Amino acid sequence: MSIDPEFARDVREGLLRTPRELPPRYFYDALGSQLFEAICRLPWYRVTRGEQLLLERHGAAMLDGLAGSAAAPLGVAELGCGSGQKLATLLRAASAPVGGVTLIDISAAALAMATDHLSQLGPWPVHTQEASYDEGLARLATSRPVSDGPLLVLFLGSNIGNFHPSEGRALLGRIRRTLRPGDALLLGTDLVKPERNLLLAYDDPLQVTAAFNRNLLRRIDEELGGTFELDGFSHRAIWNAAESRVEMHLVSLRRQRVTVAACGLDLTFEAGETIWTESSYKYDPAAVVADGLAAGFGTGTGAGVDAAPGGVRQWIEPDSAFALTRFLVTP
Ligand code: TRP
Repeated sequence: MSIDPEFARDVREGLLRTPRELPPRYFYDALGSQLFEAICRLPWYRVTRGEQLLLERHGAAMLDGLAGSAAAPLGVAELGCGSGQKLATLLRAASAPVGGVTLIDISAAALAMATDHLSQLGPWPVHTQEASYDEGLARLATSRPVSDGPLLVLFLGSNIGNFHPSEGRALLGRIRRTLRPGDALLLGTDLVKPERNLLLAYDDPLQVTAAFNRNLLRRIDEELGGTFELDGFSHRAIWNAAESRVEMHLVSLRRQRVTVAACGLDLTFEAGETIWTESSYKYDPAAVVADGLAAGFGTGTGAGVDAAPGGVRQWIEPDSAFALTRFLVTP
């Protein structure tokens, strides 16, 4: 396998930091994407199910007012589509015509699953982009799924929560600037809930999440010539209440030396030393609305379809404590 220079550079930079860290985007190789699909089915991880329920119950309302016309129907694009199952649910609820779908994901394996799900569902063309969020947005700016129709962007699964809040707000701003009046964003955010539930979601009794986390080390071994021993690291999830985030770490179980050939790294891990692999921020529903408005959504005069400021609408699933929020781009 050829070496991805960006992967090598990010791993080198992250592992040389104090504390050490690795960017979560690299979780999703073929095996990682399958493990993540398994996480989404775990009874303890309720993000996917909660979001799916909201899409089933309120999908039609979420598309309200975004109809487009017969000549210029609605286009839909999803950033980080994963298996595409949630998008399929939303499209099943669509009563107005959808003219095209763009699937954006960093994982080729995820795009293959999503294309399967979506092309059977309707007559619309399905485009795929194997790309990061920002690359995907840049390409959306010039090639929309429907060139003249309104565009709905989906950013689901609380993927925004994997960014530090200031970076998350900056990303919302970049999404907003990719869109034009008449377009909309549907944003999925996981909400603060009891610590016990949060920890079970990220440290499940079947240890699928542990496997998902440690798979990152296997990937580094395989693709970058690393010498991580998988039994030398354990999975740890903690709730950091002050920062409102679940943190995932890999903990070195002994003093050990690890080299990564493609990164020119020769490291010594102390027993108990950690690699921070992900954060998942948990939100307050009102703060999500405020972030969207601050990013420039719905701030025009009048064009909102609802009484709420700027036409913002929000749906909350109480059992999983998950929110979907729809922002409009007003003139
Ligand atoms: N966006 C998901 C979340 O924050 C990603 C995720 C779920 C995840 N479970 C995970 C990432 C476990 C790493 C490990 O909930």
